[in-house]
Amino acid sequence: MNTPFDLIIRNARCATAADTFTADIGIQDGIITALGNHLKESLEEIDAKGAWVTPGGIDGHCHFAEPSKNGIEMADNFLSGPRSAACGGTTTVIPFAVQQRGQTLRDAVNNYHRIVGNNSCIDYAFHMILTDVNEKVLKEELPTLTKEGYTSFKIYMTYEDMKLSDRDIINTLAAARDNGALVMVHAENSDCIAWLTERLLEAGHTAPKYHAESRPMLVEREATHRAITFAELVDVPMLIVHVSGREAMEQIRWAQNKGLKIYAETCPQYLFLSTDDLGGEDDYEATKCICSPPPRDPENQRYIWEGLQADTFSIFSSDHAPFSYADPKGKSAHGDKPAFNKVANGIPGVETRLPLLFSYGVMTGKISIEQFVSITSTNVAKMYGLYPRKGSIAIGSDADLVIWDCKKSQTITNSKLHHAVDYTPYEGIEVDAWPAITLSRGKVVWQNGEFLGTPGNGRFLRCEKPEPARPKVHSTPFKRVQPS
Ligand code: URP
Ligand code: ZN
Ligand code: ZN
Repeated sequence: MNTPFDLIIRNARCATAADTFTADIGIQDGIITALGNHLKESLEEIDAKGAWVTPGGIDGHCHFAEPSKNGIEMADNFLSGPRSAACGGTTTVIPFAVQQRGQTLRDAVNNYHRIVGNNSCIDYAFHMILTDVNEKVLKEELPTLTKEGYTSFKIYMTYEDMKLSDRDIINTLAAARDNGALVMVHAENSDCIAWLTERLLEAGHTAPKYHAESRPMLVEREATHRAITFAELVDVPMLIVHVSGREAMEQIRWAQNKGLKIYAETCPQYLFLSTDDLGGEDDYEATKCICSPPPRDPENQRYIWEGLQADTFSIFSSDHAPFSYADPKGKSAHGDKPAFNKVANGIPGVETRLPLLFSYGVMTGKISIEQFVSITSTNVAKMYGLYPRKGSIAIGSDADLVIWDCKKSQTITNSKLHHAVDYTPYEGIEVDAWPAITLSRGKVVWQNGEFLGTPGNGRFLRCEKPEPARPKVHSTPFKRVQPS
């Protein structure tokens, strides 16, 4: 007689985006095949002992092994990035295949598959970054690649080597609409940043804190509104990524309340870092926290929490962009006192994303566990066409699961993390929750503080057409948080 299950997780206090229930989870061939009480035999068992079990996290925004620019290289490749993700409870990552200007999308995709090779220990899909949207790209390549499972495309409104003109953005949105793809927008006004940067440098202001002064909220607010206007014009859904604070949120809520399909993402750095982390006049170690948009003030952190509570944000991603601090190919590529505009933008966070949100969101009662599951997994799966294979605890879904340990506190410190970056911006923060066990398609990849995954076990996922739930319409006015 065949043994019915490869693995049963007993006494799981399951949380989905919709509800919570206690059950045994039966797993066969990496898939959840039963949910019930007193499930019969299996080859192996794990007793969850009533601990929370959630769908594995899906990190819908992380950067690994992107091509070197001006001698600057990312610290994480497809070995260390997915490993770090798994140790923090993430079982699917969606990094970016970047199109260099002059490159075809096909070449970019092929190149990324080569870079991944046999390295990823967890499943992965790709977004594409579009930097050169000529006629062939929009009329031929984007339609073909969308059919092949690359259904989301990030575009930039800033960075000289990446940004698209307004006309190119509109053309890209029209191509996305015609092919059922989703456009993710990095919304910051490039010319305002350039103008401010020039003045700051002329005045001799080079320290990391001036990074934030060169990218104030208004540059994000303006670009967010402009991007929304283009989406309305073309009549297409859009995701605004890494939203940092109130002014951009107001534009997004305004659009959502008009019934536009404008979705928003935020990230840990806008809850757990602030302008204070960008240091003082001579604090160049603060390059560790340079990312764009920059961290804002504590009042804006509270608005981001409010936006998570009110479902203004559909997804919570890490925007893991790994550059080591002391590395001459990382944050220190331009010496130990680099001008802020020369520092590689981005911070690591793929491993700490879920423990931080679980500890400070769920365990403090700021958000429900269902909201946690929605924004870290279910909505991400829906946003990028991976649902219901990913993002749920349901019969037929992949057995990507996290069993949580909420009984002991620990302090985040870089030596405990599994990325290849030499620092974490969250050093010293206490967390009360961390995955006890992470399972990727039924296989344990993290347990008792040990990485147990196998490079190459991760599969490439072809994304279906994005099917995000309609953004919430806010009947109540924007709740003002208390100024500090
Ligand atoms: O500073 C950031 N966010 N770096 C990563 C690249 C991006 O724009 O998301
Ligand atoms: Zn971006
Ligand atoms: Zn990013």
